[in-house]
Amino acid sequence: MTSKDYLSTLFALDGRVAVVTGGSSGIGRAVAGALARAGARVVIVARDEARLAGTVEELRAEGCRADWVSADLTDREGVRAAAEEAAGVFGEPDILVNCAGVNLRPPMNELDTEVWDTTLAVNLEAPFLLGQRFGPGMAERGFGRIIHVTSQQAHRAFVHSGAYGVSKGALESLARSQAEAWSPHGVTCNTLVPGFVMTPLNARLSSDPDKVAELAARTMTGRNGLAEDFAGAAVFLAGPASAYVTGQSLFVDGGFSVH
Ligand SMILES: NC(=O)c1ccc[n+]([C@@H]2O[C@H](COP(=O)([O-])OP(=O)(O)OC[C@H]3O[C@@H](n4cnc5c(N)ncnc54)[C@H](OP(=O)(O)O)[C@@H]3O)[C@@H](O)[C@H]2O)c1
Repeated sequence: MTSKDYLSTLFALDGRVAVVTGGSSGIGRAVAGALARAGARVVIVARDEARLAGTVEELRAEGCRADWVSADLTDREGVRAAAEEAAGVFGEPDILVNCAGVNLRPPMNELDTEVWDTTLAVNLEAPFLLGQRFGPGMAERGFGRIIHVTSQQAHRAFVHSGAYGVSKGALESLARSQAEAWSPHGVTCNTLVPGFVMTPLNARLSSDPDKVAELAARTMTGRNGLAEDFAGAAVFLAGPASAYVTGQSLFVDGGFSVH
């Protein structure tokens, strides 16, 4: 067996269909690209059509198979419609990546029910609903990979964690419950846990050089995360190599969480 063939038995995603929410920007965009380059047909889901189309165009130009669905994941009907539309493109997904997220960061005293509801809807309820829609089918077919993207704020308070930390902590619990339900049927459910990653989500923090340097110093690698840092971990959790890894939280954070 050549080394390329051997690596394929571990990591190739040929023949798989993936749905990646938040796949038009930042970490989700890098993950969608990684899964597509590893062989999966990928449908990305977010709101902004221009960013969705631009991402898909780039992937297709590389020879990948990709498409997009525009949907607002803040309401249940939007999630339901997105799921049906996404499954209609390449068929029912084998891989679901829940990466769409919002971080609105009001100070605790100003955290109102509107921010609370939006945060929990996008960051927690949409992953739950998509899991309910796709998880049982994956289990019935005997293979599935569910990957949630949480945050170091699932584990510690950090710059007005407010509702955001709550949503991410609960998402890690959801992954464990999904793992309990579906792992016996070949469906693993795990979370990727970013530290501080330079993406549009934290534009305010990442445009402050002092803050950026201070956060980089809290890692062990001496730098903040880049979206591309998630490519390898996502391919691993989406593919054959991770069949015995389930219910876990994989920190991709340069050592931020253990420093
Ligand atoms: N960057 C970090 O430091 C960091 C740290 C820890 C965890 N994370 C997590 O990593 C994930 C990705 O974050 P990122 O930094 O890559 O952020 P980003 O670049 O802002 O991307 C967020 C994505 O989510 C989509 N989205 C947001 N609200 C949506 C909604 N209501 N309906 C549908 N799609 C929606 C956005 O597209 P549209 O706006 O077009 O809808 C975009 O594709 C998030 O879950 C975030 O919580 C990030």
